[in-house]
Amino acid sequence: MPALVIVGAQWGDEGKGKIVHYLSRGADFVVRYQGGNNAGHTVVFDGKKFALHLIPSGILFPGVHNVIGNGLVVSPKAFRDEVLMLQKRGVRSRGRLHLSLAAHVILPYHIYLDTLREEGGRGIGTTKKGIGPCYEDKVARIGIRVCDYLEPETFRALVTQNLNVRAAELSRIKPVKAIAEEVFKDYDELRKFLAPFACDTSELLAKARGAAKNLLLESAQGAMLDLDFGTYPFVTSSNPIAGGACVGSGIPPQAISRVMGVTKAYTTRVGLGPFPTEIDGKVATYIREKGGEYGTTTGRPRRIGWLDLPQLRSAIRFSGIDSLVMTKLDTLSNIHPIKVCTAYRYKGKKLTSFPVSRRAQLEVEPVYESFPGFSGDLSGVRKFSDLPSTARHYVEQVERLAGIPVSIVSVGQSREQTIVRDARTVWA
Ligand code: GDP
Ligand code: IMO
Ligand code: MG
Repeated sequence: MPALVIVGAQWGDEGKGKIVHYLSRGADFVVRYQGGNNAGHTVVFDGKKFALHLIPSGILFPGVHNVIGNGLVVSPKAFRDEVLMLQKRGVRSRGRLHLSLAAHVILPYHIYLDTLREEGGRGIGTTKKGIGPCYEDKVARIGIRVCDYLEPETFRALVTQNLNVRAAELSRIKPVKAIAEEVFKDYDELRKFLAPFACDTSELLAKARGAAKNLLLESAQGAMLDLDFGTYPFVTSSNPIAGGACVGSGIPPQAISRVMGVTKAYTTRVGLGPFPTEIDGKVATYIREKGGEYGTTTGRPRRIGWLDLPQLRSAIRFSGIDSLVMTKLDTLSNIHPIKVCTAYRYKGKKLTSFPVSRRAQLEVEPVYESFPGFSGDLSGVRKFSDLPSTARHYVEQVERLAGIPVSIVSVGQSREQTIVRDARTVWA
């Protein structure tokens, strides 16, 4: 009954959705444990393409149960829209999608507050989905959970109280009364829609573990967007690292059997904040266009950079990553040479991991090593030994520099464009 955690090892968008869907074949339960619909996980199979924001990628695999854990912030409207989108495309969620009663709900005023702060001059480039303000309410102990949302009297009382608390700020957008009307406008319909999905998911997962079921825990975002370990304050408001999987799902630490970290063959980031290996110019444009590096959730162009080993080593440390999944190797084709940052130089010293200080994060100078590039179309390759020798060399050098194996290499968006190098590392 393994529990495998899949984390993003960079700044998000590493290809977690594709890999979780790939691994769902062996899973009984796929569990999201943090974040909300700020995530955008793209899954491509059988010529179909899905963009999931809130619902775990396992939903696209028939028979697999999916859990939205207590660690998430859930917009009831986004939840309903995603379930309906899936239904329209032939994917049923009823009976196999389980929403934690303890997850917090995102309401229209959270989205207003997020937008207001972003546009108020101190923005960090959030997705404006209300994620931060909703987690703020949770920590301030005024949050509204799914269980409260399902009780009309409790809900009404809590909303009234919260709108009072936030009145000064909110009234800069529109009268608080109008915002209250918006909150209650579709409430009955949304409440009835949500109710059949809601349950005590911690208990559900404990039973699943008792019945020796396989659990796959899917993170959103990535290590460097982690609230505690990322590039604070340019981070999200939850903990994508593997430790977050326990807090956000209610399974105990000793249940986790393996942690896999997903990394691109290069680096991207959306939103503001430090990014030591960022590049612009021809190579960046080539990678952005070839790799389709535009945000799944906001459509923003992603910032592009070389693979950053100090950053990756830190991500490995934060989550205890056992092995890596390297995605988008195909995108690096025709780039000569390929550079990798092996260390940073900062104030005359060599750093081999990501510094904590925001100033150091901005000022470190990457030290690069160059590797020979490769040409041709890698997307049809299915065996590691069939890759060009310089592509294999690149993967092996990353393993050496990271100190852990790359157990899966991905060479395209689609499910079958996946090279498993060591099957034992997947569900061991
Ligand atoms: P996530 O948020 O980590 O799930 O990643 P996103 O879905 O936001 O972004 C990753 C993008 O890369 C998606 O469009 C995927 O379909 C795509 N992708 C994943 N793996 C590969 C790969 O190996 N090669 C290529 N070319 N695209 C990939
Ligand atoms: P997936 O799961 C990439 C970034 C935003 C912003 C910061 C805070 O698809 O990898 P938030 O709306 O969370 O308060 O924004 O985090 N961000 C992501 N970047 N992928 C994501 O999710 C992200 N979710 C949030 O761009 O910089
Ligand atoms: Mg994404």
